[in-house]
Amino acid sequence: MFMSKGKTAYICQNCGVQSPKWIGQCSSCQEWNTFVEEIITKNTEKIDIPFQSQSKPKIISEISSIKEKRIDTGNIEFNRILGGGLVPGSLVLLGGEPGIGKSTLALQIALGLKNYKTLYITGEESEQQLKLRSDRLKFNNNSCYILNETSLENVFLHIKNLEPDLIIIDSIQTMVTTSVESSPGSVTQVRECASSILKMAKKSSIPVILIGHINKEGNLAGPKVMEHIVDTVLIFEGDRNHQYRILRSTKNRYGSTSEMGIYEMQHTGLREVDNPSELLLSHSKESLSGIAVSASIECVRPFLIETQALVSSAVYGTPQRSSTGFDLRRLSMLLAVLEKKAGFRLSAKDVFLNIAGGIKVNDPAIDLAVICAVLSSDLNIPIEKSYCFSGEISLAGEIRPVNRIDQRIIEAEKLGFNKIFLSKGNKKGFSGSKFKIETIFVNKVEEVLKQLFA
Ligand code: TYD
Ligand code: MG
Repeated sequence: MFMSKGKTAYICQNCGVQSPKWIGQCSSCQEWNTFVEEIITKNTEKIDIPFQSQSKPKIISEISSIKEKRIDTGNIEFNRILGGGLVPGSLVLLGGEPGIGKSTLALQIALGLKNYKTLYITGEESEQQLKLRSDRLKFNNNSCYILNETSLENVFLHIKNLEPDLIIIDSIQTMVTTSVESSPGSVTQVRECASSILKMAKKSSIPVILIGHINKEGNLAGPKVMEHIVDTVLIFEGDRNHQYRILRSTKNRYGSTSEMGIYEMQHTGLREVDNPSELLLSHSKESLSGIAVSASIECVRPFLIETQALVSSAVYGTPQRSSTGFDLRRLSMLLAVLEKKAGFRLSAKDVFLNIAGGIKVNDPAIDLAVICAVLSSDLNIPIEKSYCFSGEISLAGEIRPVNRIDQRIIEAEKLGFNKIFLSKGNKKGFSGSKFKIETIFVNKVEEVLKQLFA
């Protein structure tokens, strides 16, 4: 690109590091091919943030510890993940892959806030597109304003005139400020816009939800620095071909990051899922081979989730291993354990694994259900529908204890399961008498197999 004026430098689009000349690999974040030439001289005119605040140092003991007033967004899952609602003046980054439902979620929140004036600024879609979407969501709200604008200076003017109670900016990558000369979406622009928006939010006490794209590596597109600027980072994820979406928080200055929210994408928008287990379990009456249910915990929420496996003789020379929702390397490790410790010949077989609902599970306690599903398919013997599992598998084939077993057991009991397999390591200090569900403590993979398939 021909640059007419101003000093230029090469800037890593991933982490924002500057270099005087182009380099292939970033010395800071180790990413390849991320350097782009940008104009770095700033215009002398500063962005005018039309809010003034008087601050002075205070003694910590004199600062009242009354809980921050929070705005109830009317969306239980969203409130939960924020730590109990939106904090005035906070800057929340909502990231996710294209098409996952970020704009839908943000618009739903704006429309759902009946007693607040909300301003939805979009640089991506036209007003008509947003109107069509709001019709689809079947919300009616007379205090939700839509603004199609990409210039940050104009946005600030409109904010000053309208004085909204909540601002949504869709997306940060489309915003431009004249105070830096580089092109929209570049690291310098995004960083400058985000930090001006932060200052505006703090001075005016208006909470802002910033929508940000995620690049193909799964990082927030553009600068990592943006994650440092904002108060809260929420990531919206899920498989686009499935209807479930998970909202996680990776940073939260006003709450814990161990919360998660679950949504279901319907044709009328996102529905909050308050009881995920019921959706993630299949409702077939008969027992089928290759299915095992795991009592898992994601963040702090327990739910029961179905793992499905299919094992068949390899058609081609090299057997295939494929997995959705579960780490493929971990699956290979579990198969190797079965081969070595339990004597199953799986090396000449294709193994396919799927976690129901397109959900990605990070809880290691799902291991036990995975191997049970694999063996059930291999032997073609169904596992009793009322059984569930929770245990991590070690390389030596031992079943390792997992955390929060009480929560897992309570959830399993609530859903009508009558037997749960757990690690012997969890038995210590465990009082089973308070549960009706039968708890079976096992030490080794072979023991479970004997009980299930003998
Ligand atoms: P969108 O919010 O535009 O995603 P993002 O802003 O993250 O790019 O949502 C995109 C998808 O959601 C789109 O493919 C259609 C689907 N969708 C529904 O299934 N139901 C709905 O009610 C809406 C509004 C969208
Ligand atoms: Mg969008």
